[in-house]
Amino acid sequence: MKNLLVTGGAGFIGSNFVRYMLDRYGDVRITNLDALTYAGNLENLAGLEADERYRFVKGDVAEPDDVAAVLADGGFDAVVHFAAESHVDRSLHHGAGTFIRTNIQGTQVLLDGCRTCGVARYLQVSTDEVYGSLGAEGRFTEGSPIAPNNPYAASKAGADFMVRAAWKSHGLNAVITRCSNNFGPYQFPEKLIPLMIANALEDKPLPVYGDGKHVRDWIYVIDHCSAVDTVLRKAEPGSVYNIGGDHDVPNIEIVRLILKILGKPESLIRFVDDRPGHDRRYAMDSSKIQDDLGWSPAHTFEQAMRETVDWYLAHRDWWERIRSGAYRDYYDGMYAARLKQAGA
Ligand code: NAD
Ligand code: TYD
Repeated sequence: MKNLLVTGGAGFIGSNFVRYMLDRYGDVRITNLDALTYAGNLENLAGLEADERYRFVKGDVAEPDDVAAVLADGGFDAVVHFAAESHVDRSLHHGAGTFIRTNIQGTQVLLDGCRTCGVARYLQVSTDEVYGSLGAEGRFTEGSPIAPNNPYAASKAGADFMVRAAWKSHGLNAVITRCSNNFGPYQFPEKLIPLMIANALEDKPLPVYGDGKHVRDWIYVIDHCSAVDTVLRKAEPGSVYNIGGDHDVPNIEIVRLILKILGKPESLIRFVDDRPGHDRRYAMDSSKIQDDLGWSPAHTFEQAMRETVDWYLAHRDWWERIRSGAYRDYYDGMYAARLKQAGA
């Protein structure tokens, strides 16, 4: 596994993965194929330009010519597929078209490309959201029914099925990881944790959906990266592995913790209209990856959250640049009416 094609390496988790792998393995080579959508940012990879083990290629995973071109001259040992449209709210409010194109069609184009070029390993980075929502009890296992409730989750589930089909029908050596909610450096400030940190730092209202009691299972992004690396190297073809941080808490607790770390008042919190079809609770059972492959998270939630908040404090120019651009129109469209209704 020395020569990797990583897709979506300019996004949040992909850029952390590229850095993680280059730091960890002296002999790894990484080609990063990324279309640089609104969520792709080469600043996330700053400093790597001079590393001759790393190469960036701008291209679209749903475009067969782009994928064929990069695979043809690559001689890759494996493809690790992160590229996706990743934000649930966009899939609800801006239409599902790009989600179907990138997440399902893009996955199929890569699978076909791997078969044509004889790539020996394919890893699909998926999500706990394909399982839908839990009731008050229990955790998702790899055997839980696939029951997605929003267009993003449905497109990721569709992609997982295409991966399964490529393995079953064509014998492609493919594996799937399904991870819970990530947090850490370089996360686009439309997602809960960076959005709340940035708003709090600017003394802006913190929009909490519904009653704030929706539960997510949070994992530090570096622990997700180490799990993907483990599965890439050790998992049996056709296998699926859940990855979780074993830290499932209601959103409102996360928001209060951020305010506490930053020394900001809880009066900034605004309960706004809920997300349609909002999944009530996610929690992962990660015992299979722990038992089979010996992986476990290396970071505690509290320490990782403090480090994450510190990172956003130290990289204010990074998120301020994002928030001053086209993202501002997205934010106003998504929140202005809801915040007004909530009295902010
Ligand atoms: P992100 O939105 O931060 O980054 C996505 C990246 O993919 C960007 O660099 C973007 O430019 C690129 N991209 C989008 N469409 C593309 C296309 N058509 N061709 C090539 N590149 C394209 O996403 P993220 O949060 O880093 O998530 C990465 C992967 O991990 C996704 O597959 C996501 O479903 C999965 N995942 C995310 C989480 C999470 O909490 N963020 C949890 C579990 C799984
Ligand atoms: P998000 O970061 O969008 O991840 P996902 O939808 O993939 O879980 O949201 C995490 C949780 O936070 C989810 O329950 C929705 C909630 N949320 C808010 O309450 N307010 C917000 O402004 C956002 C973006 C999310």
